[in-house]
Amino acid sequence: MSGDCDFGLMGLAVMGENLALNVESRGYKVAVYNRTTSKVDDLIEGRAKGKNFVGTHTVEEFVKSVKRPRKLMMLVKAGPAVDAIIDQLIPLCDPGDIIIDGGNTLYSDTERRTKLVEEAGLLYVGCGVSGGEEGALKGPSMMPGGSKEAWPHIKEMFQAVSAKVGPNNDIPCCEWVGPRGAGHYVKMVHNGIEYGDMQLICEAYQLLREVGGLNNEELYDVFAEWNEGELQSYLIEITRDIFSAKDDQGGDAFLVDKILDVAGAKGTGKWMSQLALDLGVPSTLVTTAVFARGLSAQKEARVRASKTLNGPSESMNPEMRAAAMKLVGDRADFVESVRHALYASKIVSYAQGFVQLQAASAEHDWGLDYGNAALLWRGGCIIRAQFLDRIKDAFEADSNLENLLLHPFFKKAIEDAQAAWRTVVASAAILGIPVPAFSTALNYYDGYRLERLPANLLQAQRDYFGAHTYQRVDKDGWFHSEWLDLRKQPK
Ligand code: 6PG
Repeated sequence: MSGDCDFGLMGLAVMGENLALNVESRGYKVAVYNRTTSKVDDLIEGRAKGKNFVGTHTVEEFVKSVKRPRKLMMLVKAGPAVDAIIDQLIPLCDPGDIIIDGGNTLYSDTERRTKLVEEAGLLYVGCGVSGGEEGALKGPSMMPGGSKEAWPHIKEMFQAVSAKVGPNNDIPCCEWVGPRGAGHYVKMVHNGIEYGDMQLICEAYQLLREVGGLNNEELYDVFAEWNEGELQSYLIEITRDIFSAKDDQGGDAFLVDKILDVAGAKGTGKWMSQLALDLGVPSTLVTTAVFARGLSAQKEARVRASKTLNGPSESMNPEMRAAAMKLVGDRADFVESVRHALYASKIVSYAQGFVQLQAASAEHDWGLDYGNAALLWRGGCIIRAQFLDRIKDAFEADSNLENLLLHPFFKKAIEDAQAAWRTVVASAAILGIPVPAFSTALNYYDGYRLERLPANLLQAQRDYFGAHTYQRVDKDGWFHSEWLDLRKQPK
């Protein structure tokens, strides 16, 4: 038996509730279910009142109320809850029904679940959804992957629900990504890039505040201006707004100054770093951003250390400090240099994200379309930015582009920014301001562009102590040397 709902949504936390309202607002009838059933009643009596919803109190009722082939989406905490729901749904569904996971799931779980659900005669979609509460309600970026046969059934609805971009606002930020866990992997890389962007913005903030001496009102103006140019993005826009918000607990202080400097993390950035290590690709921006959050979380240890460990105080090294301040220039120059450093580092961060996607796609045989991934991130999601148009164009012109840094547009952008970028990193080091993401980006750039790195010495060391062998620049093959015989003999 099946009902007349077009879509079913399980899990009515804020994202689920907003996505259900979004789907209904596009002309679909929506069944909803939540384990704590009072949430269903609250929605039906509240925000969904008078709308085309069916509230259900059991999983059976939920499944039965949706038309076949059923499109049943869950937006629940990633992990065992998803497996538990799949186990409940499988016996209640009919062949060809589609189970969709819209959470921030680890891609390997989606690989496993796609197989399991397909073996049960159903279809499975792991769909990355980005955009936070507002995106879910008004138009998120959606990254579906899994059983390809599911796509024709969900395409129209998902594209209607998703964010739109382009001159006529009609290009949906939702396209089929690839088989099995490909959609969730692309979402994870989105989140890792989000980590990098956020860390870079935070480093710019610290520099502007501590070296440039800018107050919150001035920071607001700087971010407002940056948001008009090549850095235009959602994260720059909300950062601008944050600098204008006053404390909601009373008083005249800015809220940002009242927030404890301890960063949280739910884990997608960490996954991307771990998987980069597994693939052997240097995604240093996200990894640095994850570690920077970790260091911030050691607040008590930092407070203790701050009372003991010295940095380059003015009295310690006046000449060097004066030289750094000279490098920094006047305030307007410095703001402009930080903008360049941020832009160049951001390019490196995206370049790394796409290199990781390429490596993962090759490893898992997903056949990812990188221009498509950039298109999905152009609107609705947290990293949405003008700059993604350029990335999309770059991969459309050359689908095998090895690294974004090699594309003429980004090559020139880095060349234009690099003097300022180097000045910012060097002065931050002299002045004792941590800029881990700015500097790791610069180090990646310099490492990537050098034909010869010191790994020859490293290979010699490995061969010396462990007979690990090495390759030569002048002959093919693997060699081992008797370093103890070759070395300068001790007297
Ligand atoms: C999005 C976000 C979202 C993520 C939060 C929090 O795309 O809408 O990426 O999926 O959960 O940004 O992530 P952290 O708690 O790890 O910072």
